[in-house]
Amino acid sequence: MIYSKIKGCGSYLPEKVLTNAELEATLDTTDEWITTRTGIKKRHIVDEDQFTSDLAYEAAKIALTDANLQPSDIDLIIVATTTPDKVFPSTACILQKKLGVVECAAFDIQAVCSGFIYALSVADKFIKTRSAKNILVVGADTMSRITDYSDRSNAILWGDGSGAIVLSSSNEEGILSTHIHAKGEHEELLHVPRKGQQGEKDTIDMKGNQVFKMAVNTLDMIVDETLNANNLAKEDIDWVVPHQANIRILEATAKKLNMSMDKLIVTIGEQGNTSAASIPLALDFGIKQKKIKPGHLILMEAFGGGFTWGSALIRI
Ligand code: COA
Repeated sequence: MIYSKIKGCGSYLPEKVLTNAELEATLDTTDEWITTRTGIKKRHIVDEDQFTSDLAYEAAKIALTDANLQPSDIDLIIVATTTPDKVFPSTACILQKKLGVVECAAFDIQAVCSGFIYALSVADKFIKTRSAKNILVVGADTMSRITDYSDRSNAILWGDGSGAIVLSSSNEEGILSTHIHAKGEHEELLHVPRKGQQGEKDTIDMKGNQVFKMAVNTLDMIVDETLNANNLAKEDIDWVVPHQANIRILEATAKKLNMSMDKLIVTIGEQGNTSAASIPLALDFGIKQKKIKPGHLILMEAFGGGFTWGSALIRI
């Protein structure tokens, strides 16, 4: 049996930080409101000349070193992003050029905050069908580029960052299953409409309260679906590595599942919602903190615009 095994991991956050205190100075909001409603204290924001592929490149270099591989060993690059550098080519192709990989397949995946799970799911199929041996899977987003900083319900939430893993074919257990879903009927609850005006920034439009409720109700279902598919129980999971949208969503999901928050990797306070980057950033944090260790069973789950949602059960 062939498995997709995580051989290396890396992440990157831009240097510039936007704190709640700074937001207090420009918006009708308070640190107390943001902290109690979202759990977020600060988020990292790119400089004017920094793009999604730059963030992806930094995380990818670390993941390759961690995997003890050269860029030339990679035979497929998948970048999950909602904020590509350009309309085309894909951010994956730009990343390929920056890494100096002369030739391999490369493409982007757009599933907003579920993007990394979608990318993992696709990568796993390439490995299981023996179509690729070493895949670079990246989640990278510059959400600040599509955030209206005069809209207090969005400005407080989003951050920029990237995370990358190298997924290699292996005889040892790795990805045990992935589950991905979408329901386009909810398109307008969380979207970035095209304004069509010259020079005007296209920004996130969100019905926060409805998104919140949908997220909580969907995430506990996906956990059950994943465990049932593998004949496993909640007690078998060592760590949940969730998409970091809001601490209250994480708490509500944990409560519904009757799981302790101690089993969740939480980075939202320091990073905000970094969309497709949030899961690999949390994974890397959990590994570097020596919480997630070889042999551990981890469950990743995400929910995002579309709506899209998904999960992955992985033996580290
Ligand atoms: N500071 C102070 N007040 C704020 C505020 C802010 N930053 N943002 C919104 N408010 C106000 C609203 O204007 C509203 O005021 P009103 O009652 O006078 O109209 C009030 O707070 C309540 O708004 P509501 O939207 O019901 O708040 P909420 O408790 O749902 O919190 C979010 C708002 C955005 C934090 C919350 O809905 C949320 O996190 N939703 C999920 C968003 C998400 O995770 N999206 C990505 C999914 S991948």
